Amino acid sequence: MALNKLVAGNWKMHGVAADLEQVEAIAAASRSLAAVEVALCLPLTLIERAVRAVPGLAIGAQDVHFAEKGAHTGNASAAMLRDAGASLTIVGHSERRQAHRESDAEVKAKAEAALAAGLGVILCVGESLAVREAGGAVDTVDAQLQASLPAGIGDPMDFSVAYEPIWAIGTGKAASPDDIGEMHAAVRQRLVTAYGDAGNRVRILYGGSVKASNSVEIFALANVDGALVGGASLSVADFLPIVEAAAAAAAAG
Ligand code: PGA
Repeated sequence: MALNKLVAGNWKMHGVAADLEQVEAIAAASRSLAAVEVALCLPLTLIERAVRAVPGLAIGAQDVHFAEKGAHTGNASAAMLRDAGASLTIVGHSERRQAHRESDAEVKAKAEAALAAGLGVILCVGESLAVREAGGAVDTVDAQLQASLPAGIGDPMDFSVAYEPIWAIGTGKAASPDDIGEMHAAVRQRLVTAYGDAGNRVRILYGGSVKASNSVEIFALANVDGALVGGASLSVADFLPIVEAAAAAAAAG
């Protein structure tokens, strides 16, 4: 089944007020494209200003705390993100799993807290190079999913899984079409096992060095319902061709 594609940008720790003009340009350029949803996951400091600047564009966060409120210095809750105008958040990005030692259980709690508060979720999974080279990529990602998928997802369009091989993030070297196809099929199977037919309507995004030059090929693959884009989402010049490729793939069915 062809789902509307989702192309989400992950700005990571990039962006100050001057960069809102890129957000505005991305929103303006993608407004007319059918069958593709565009979202930008921005630093916390830009969320509210971006929402004000481009009311029609989905603005997201890059992480959320699992608690509703409390003594959690430096964190933001799902309700706070909603209050700032965010409509979605990434959870479980490998940079957080590694640098902040986030466990699958914590990622699951974050996803459940976000969904319960009405925030869409992009849940990231992905293997290291050592695991890929040892032949354990599919098993590792499947184990991550089993331990981090939320118990329920409500509307499947509000929940996405992003397959992001760690070795492909920020390296310029995306996974091969064969490897993406194999992994996304396994992710789909796990989603259907977890959620029944609704698992067929969860979007599976690929992430890791997506750029204009590889996006057409990636979006043509079965079970690739969009992309999570880091570096190439920071400017309209790099991001728009990827969004256009997703729109073209969605139109082609
Ligand atoms: P990249 O990052 O597109 O810069 O490789 C992707 C991500 O980390 O989400």
